[in-house]
Amino acid sequence: MSDAPHSTKAEFDFVVVSNRLPVDRVTDSDGVASWTRSPGGLVTALEPVMREADGAWVGWGGQPDLTIDPFENDGIHIVPVDLSAADIEEFYEGFSNDTLWPLYHDVIAPPAYHREWWESYVRVNQRFADAAAAASAQGAVVWVQDYQLQLVPRMLRESRPDLTIGFFNHIPFPPYGIFSQLPWRLQIIEGLLGADVIGFQRVADAGNFLRAVRRLTSFPTRNPAIEVSSAGQPTRRVVARAFPISIDAKSFEELAREPRIQERAREIREGLGNPRTVMLGVDRLDYTKGIGHRLKAFGELLAEGRVNVEDVTLVQVASPSRERVAAYMQLRDEIELTVGRINGDFATMSHTAISYHHHGYPRDEMVALYLAADVLLVTALRDGMNLVAKEYVASRFDDDGVLVLSEFTGASDELKKALLINPHDIDGVKDAILQAIAMPAKERATRMRSLRKRVLENDVSRWSSNFLHTLEQARASRYDRISPVQLPDELEWTVDRRWSD
Ligand code: G6P
Repeated sequence: MSDAPHSTKAEFDFVVVSNRLPVDRVTDSDGVASWTRSPGGLVTALEPVMREADGAWVGWGGQPDLTIDPFENDGIHIVPVDLSAADIEEFYEGFSNDTLWPLYHDVIAPPAYHREWWESYVRVNQRFADAAAAASAQGAVVWVQDYQLQLVPRMLRESRPDLTIGFFNHIPFPPYGIFSQLPWRLQIIEGLLGADVIGFQRVADAGNFLRAVRRLTSFPTRNPAIEVSSAGQPTRRVVARAFPISIDAKSFEELAREPRIQERAREIREGLGNPRTVMLGVDRLDYTKGIGHRLKAFGELLAEGRVNVEDVTLVQVASPSRERVAAYMQLRDEIELTVGRINGDFATMSHTAISYHHHGYPRDEMVALYLAADVLLVTALRDGMNLVAKEYVASRFDDDGVLVLSEFTGASDELKKALLINPHDIDGVKDAILQAIAMPAKERATRMRSLRKRVLENDVSRWSSNFLHTLEQARASRYDRISPVQLPDELEWTVDRRWSD
């Protein structure tokens, strides 16, 4: 990675703003600093988009008090934003990941509401907005990403009315019955409405957002448009709709086709004692991912003698995440206790039940793992999209492998030929695991072909060009009244009524 310094002038016509940069600054035990790839689906999706575009990426470098000049990394112009230790505690670990994250994921963990965290969220959002404004040329397109930065669109609109502003939420947007808990719910809605286009993963998320707008403001709405007026400003039209995100599917397939990756896949299976079935789970170690539910189902199948460790092994990659947030520390203890118990009860001298890995792996190794795995288990209790499911499918150029997929992921809207499960229904998960293990080759191929068609067609470049095309149209019709609306909406408009009141 080159650290060539770059100018800080407002020269970019396209600017992406996200809390995390695609690279993270890490310092080893000898105090030597380097950059590594950042965790999570947002970076997986946006990195190939930014490599193609001649734009700037504004974000945080992953360490406190990191004052570094803009630089170029692998063809991407990086503009770092500095966060202090207090910002990390209150804005990142606090409001972003201990208030918004659990609230937006169906309150699986209880959200904490602290006024100091909110104040920090406002301050840090302003800093990101200022950095984005400073990097943007006159009339530039600025694309703000995710729940950590929901106030940035309005802040940018106020300081730079010349900009075209998009926002994309990578995580779910909750039903109003849950969202309304948030003491600062109106400020969040007003923050988002600073954008010209607000994108969501699922049709249901966009529906939840539009209902929150209707409950909290008097702005007229007509799906997918909202007519926003504020004192002294002309009335603007804002578009809110679903744009399901994806991956650079071809690059996964290309890697999977490389002989060295296939050789590595064979080595992995051999290292596991060549069981008949290798099952795989790949997640950030997060309570939304349902890792405990997956382990419970597998543990029960072993205890009941319906599977045994000579035949079936589960490989669980759980990459470290948000390790200073209490809910994540507790989750790690629970998961590792359960893995230890299951292995203690069922492993033999030659075969372990669960091969558990608490770290991330480079892309090459992940693709080898996908090829080595007969079954991928995605048991998330709530997940904006789940790009791991799409990575698995994209890698299986051999039309083999079975995807077991939670219906609470955004991916399940598209990947209908997966074995869809309700992860709360442990008996249902067990049945799906047995069905996956026993599935005849012909059925595996038919299902995988259909999944692959979907993932390869709707790849991330299609996602970004759809969004940016809609943004361009929305800018052109920003001051039109809301009817009639002529925007592409290929997805059926369905309403998720659970929790709504
Ligand atoms: C999810 C979020 C991203 C986030 C990533 C990793 O994918 O949508 O915004 O960057 O998780 O989490 P972290 O807190 O480490 O940035």
